[in-house]
Amino acid sequence: MFRVTVSRVRAAAIAPCRRASAGAGAVNRLLSNIPEDTVYGGPKPQTVSQRTTLTNLRQKYRRGEPITVVTAYDYPSAVHVDTAGMDICLVGDSAAMVVHGHDTTLPISLDEMLVHCRSVARGATRPLLVGDLPFGSYESSPSQAVDSAVRMLREGGMDAIKLEGGAPSRITAAKAIVEAGIAVMGHVGLTPQAISVLGGFRPQGKNVSSAVKVVETALALQEAGCFSIVLECVPAPVAAAATSALQIPTIGIGAGPFCSGQVLIYHDLLGMFQHPHHAKVSPKFCKQYGNVGDVINKALLEYKQEVGSKSFPGPRHTPYKINADDVAGFLDELQKRGWGEAATAAAAAVQTMDISPKPLD
Ligand code: KIV
Repeated sequence: MFRVTVSRVRAAAIAPCRRASAGAGAVNRLLSNIPEDTVYGGPKPQTVSQRTTLTNLRQKYRRGEPITVVTAYDYPSAVHVDTAGMDICLVGDSAAMVVHGHDTTLPISLDEMLVHCRSVARGATRPLLVGDLPFGSYESSPSQAVDSAVRMLREGGMDAIKLEGGAPSRITAAKAIVEAGIAVMGHVGLTPQAISVLGGFRPQGKNVSSAVKVVETALALQEAGCFSIVLECVPAPVAAAATSALQIPTIGIGAGPFCSGQVLIYHDLLGMFQHPHHAKVSPKFCKQYGNVGDVINKALLEYKQEVGSKSFPGPRHTPYKINADDVAGFLDELQKRGWGEAATAAAAAVQTMDISPKPLD
């Protein structure tokens, strides 16, 4: 389907001379999906890229190749995750903390998660997309769980869902969702939605009964039909045992190297929060692969300084031209309307920026 985008309409308004002179070719281009010279670029080529499937993941798992997972919450992070070639992109309820600034994952709602999911689905075309069912969206009954999972796929554009915990009601919910035809990723160990009963963000599996529970719960979720299990904040031997006992991939976070794959939170691995207030947000198991926060801070300070000193925007970043005749006509019109000062300002801008006399092609 051909669409005339907002950026095209804006470009058309900004460059009427260009469009008029281009003739029939321009009409064709306005109706095509091939980008032309627009202000913000053009629509993307409409090629269908290959989405990672559960079959691809199973093959990777059988070959013993680690599965790569990272979270994303919006269009730009999704584009980066896609470009890096990750296997799975998780729209985690960690959005509540790293995007919305809450101290826990509990406050985020399903409707808010769906906004994140849709943005990610637009940006990440290749990884398998997993949407986290947030707190309060699946605990009451299997039918509530199925309804929420259906929304994740239908309204959020996800390929699968993740849910936390392994209490009998969660196992029943996972089974019901799988029976509804929706792939489910389980999540055991530290399950942040349960901090009320866990007594905070505490590692799990640190004594015999807790360690056995991690393995048992993972097995029960496998039995319910989950395609993969996240193991969060458990000692490496516990993760190794679960990984060995299961016939589906484990994805570790703070669980050591003996998992079938690893997941990290986008903001943590990029080092987005480079500020003393946010030191608490980055967990100790997370390796920072970048210092994006430093880069952002530096760029924002430089921008602030340049706006303050009026060195931005200079001629190079003032791209839109008006030809000499139109400037003259414009100045006349301003004068006629009694806006002498505005005319003086416009004339001074022409002098300062040297922005007038380039004819439009
Ligand atoms: O919400 C999230 O990002 C997660 C990961 C920590 C696995 O559940």
